[in-house]
Amino acid sequence: MKTAIYPGSFDPVTFGHLDIIMRASKIFDHLTVAVLNNNVKTPLFSVEERVNILKEATKDIPNVSIESFQGLLIDYAREKDIHVSVRGLRAITDFEYELQIAQTNRKLSNGQLDTIFLTTSLEYSYLSSSSVKEIASFHGDISQCVPEFVAKLVYEKYGHSVD
Ligand code: PNS
Repeated sequence: MKTAIYPGSFDPVTFGHLDIIMRASKIFDHLTVAVLNNNVKTPLFSVEERVNILKEATKDIPNVSIESFQGLLIDYAREKDIHVSVRGLRAITDFEYELQIAQTNRKLSNGQLDTIFLTTSLEYSYLSSSSVKEIASFHGDISQCVPEFVAKLVYEKYGHSVD
């Protein structure tokens, strides 16, 4: 069985992430979306909230499961016996950072964890979780960036009323 892991912060999940999840789920027999539980960063959503949001957003894709992990991705992937990591590339600006992570993971895992990149669909190439949060914090329109139920949850976090 061809399996892969799609790691990330997903704070919150955007249409760009969901596009990668949908496409990767067609390439692999099973895709584990792994939400990083990072004590260093202060996320808008707790790891439990991010997992639940992703579960709801991917509920119609049968071969996708949502998990969380702490520590190194290579350790978590080894535990799950997964040897391919999936990441989305939006623009050349992502490349250097992504290349560094991919090479580090390959080296640290002694070649046991490879990375494949999917280019983000053009209509989502401008999207990032950070810009979604910034726009929402000023009560801007994020309806083109995240599913409606996610937008409501994001606005709630910033104390904006949703109706
Ligand atoms: O959505 P993000 O924040 O760009 O995802 C980054 C992520 C989660 C893929 C990366 O930070 C990660 O894998 N962190 C886990 C720690 C780790 O394995 N670090 C070694 C690679 S530099």
